[in-house]
Amino acid sequence: MTDTPPPRTAITLCGSLRHGSINEVLRQHMSRQLRAAGVAVTDLDLADFEMPIFNQDLEAEHTPESAIRLADLFRTTDIVLIITPEYNGGITPLVANVIAWTSRTKPNPFKHAIWGIGGVSDGKYATIFSLSHLRDTLSKVGALVVPTLLGIGPFDETFDADGNPTEANIKWKIGQMVRELTHFSRGGI
Ligand SMILES: Cc1cc2nc3c(=O)[nH]c(=O)nc-3n(C[C@H](O)[C@H](O)[C@H](O)COP(=O)(O)O)c2cc1C
Repeated sequence: MTDTPPPRTAITLCGSLRHGSINEVLRQHMSRQLRAAGVAVTDLDLADFEMPIFNQDLEAEHTPESAIRLADLFRTTDIVLIITPEYNGGITPLVANVIAWTSRTKPNPFKHAIWGIGGVSDGKYATIFSLSHLRDTLSKVGALVVPTLLGIGPFDETFDADGNPTEANIKWKIGQMVRELTHFSRGGI
């Protein structure tokens, strides 16, 4: 007899603080999809985790309480999903800053969860450059990132007014991302 695995937990976060962020629309959609797959999802807002721009001099004084709190969530959640815009072909300063601060906490906060990354752009390149960059960075700090890179764009042509994707291939890709996150996060049981 196969035991039923316990429910998985996830946190989802957005690499843009902008009001009206299209990545926040995608993040919310992904939270709904993960919940539909039986995952207990906590929606995070990085505005609740304020941190100064990383500077090693500051680190000597003290690590921000927000970085410690976020790193603890990384260490105790089965799935971490980052949905982020692409800036100049790379990751946003917000995401870079969060990774810099949390990477300095111990024990390594990146090695527990299964990580998923995605983003939506206002253009047709669909954040692919930044996702590639982000996967490299996360791998470097020890995170296991699922193979699907959820790059979507242009937003105006691929989402409806309710914040749901309209195209079959995008819906399939989102389903694939959810399957990978739920499947791989059960590996440790
Ligand atoms: C500084 C900056 C750089 C950008 N660079 C890119 C880019 O390299 N590739 C891209 O597809 N979009 C780029 N954009 C456009 C973003 O896709 C667009 O602003 C998007 O709405 C940002 O995501 P958000 O709505 O979630 O904040 C850039 C935007 C800004 C502000």
